[in-house]
Amino acid sequence: MTQTPRIPQLLEPARLGPLHLPNRLVMAPLTRNRAGADGVPQPLMATYYAQRASAGLIIAEAATPNAVGQTYPNIPAIHSQAHVDGWRRVTRAVRAAGGRMFLQLQHGGRVGHPDTSGLTPLAPSPVPLPETLHTPSGRRPAVVPREMTTRDIRSTVADFASAARNAVDAGFEGVEVHAANGHLLHQFLAGNTNRRGDAYGGPVAHRIRFVVEVVRAVTDAIGPDRVGLRVSPGNTVNGVREDDTDSIYPALVEALADSGPAYLHVVAADSDQPLFRTLRDGWPGTLIANPALGWGTPLPADGGRRAGERLLAAGADLIALGRAFIANPDLVERIRLGAPLNPVREAYQMYTGGETGYTDYPFLAPDHAGSGSPEPVGR
Ligand SMILES: Cc1cc2nc3c(=O)[nH]c(=O)nc-3n(C[C@H](O)[C@H](O)[C@H](O)COP(=O)(O)O)c2cc1C
Repeated sequence: MTQTPRIPQLLEPARLGPLHLPNRLVMAPLTRNRAGADGVPQPLMATYYAQRASAGLIIAEAATPNAVGQTYPNIPAIHSQAHVDGWRRVTRAVRAAGGRMFLQLQHGGRVGHPDTSGLTPLAPSPVPLPETLHTPSGRRPAVVPREMTTRDIRSTVADFASAARNAVDAGFEGVEVHAANGHLLHQFLAGNTNRRGDAYGGPVAHRIRFVVEVVRAVTDAIGPDRVGLRVSPGNTVNGVREDDTDSIYPALVEALADSGPAYLHVVAADSDQPLFRTLRDGWPGTLIANPALGWGTPLPADGGRRAGERLLAAGADLIALGRAFIANPDLVERIRLGAPLNPVREAYQMYTGGETGYTDYPFLAPDHAGSGSPEPVGR
């Protein structure tokens, strides 16, 4: 008699290293530009994240590991004591509300501007972002970044390790190294942004080297159980172009699989794509899949639930959702009840300061489960 394999569902518990997760829903990292100008997390951020503490895991928005890595104004950072103290207030609020949190570490590389950081951005090669950037003085054309020397590479790797220690000190369970979406680590992977002729450029084995060094330094600093890696194979955001994703990502996974981090987080994951299968087969740890729901198109009414279930059936362990968590602080409860989701409001509210579009999305009415009322109420 053949047995139907048991398919894990979104709301079943899971483990991530030593962590017990009450469900498989992960809040994806979401930059919201609500930190102070100095990168210090503000009290409103504690409210926002605590509202979403029922997620199995929260991956807090990209935080900068050093001054030159800053992308945009009001991005949080994690390289000073004031940053650590600000984040500690956030992690305490989330823990008090029953949640668990990783922090994403992001160096923007060429996605940065002297008007924002006061510094010339660093990148693998002096190839500017082919776009304008938001700065405190409005949108400005990107500048030509300075090509990183070997010494810059070494100190940047050390900055990631030090930022990871700071994150643990601030109360995070761990960190996610951001090698996705066209930021510095992705700029090393992609051929059009990495024109180096040294050990960090050229063939795939060289282009993955910087990412591998950063991940190893971070795992050495805080232990592999506390480290994740986010990748976005083939994603062209921020002007990166990879012509060889089928070689880069399997090579990266192979290089990190043995001594590697607790999880691999794949953006725009699609269970029908052979690369997704290859990465699943090659990665021995937890795989977080962020479903491909269509970027720039309205979020599906189910927020990504069905796409997430398909990915779980295809071997993902956890499902990360972004916009559904922005609009639904109680997303887990809504999915449990099959209740309707709040739609995302105007996109511009994502990156503006303040409560609007941030902490004012309504929770379900307390009597929803009993009455069956689909009406959400404010809280
Ligand atoms: C407002 C906003 C901010 C984002 N910030 C980040 C970020 O800081 N780091 C990151 O890796 N991805 C970031 N992303 C991408 C999301 O993590 C996620 O991959 C994307 O929203 C697709 O998931 P979804 O379809 O469930 O929203 C951001 C997306 C949005 C909408």
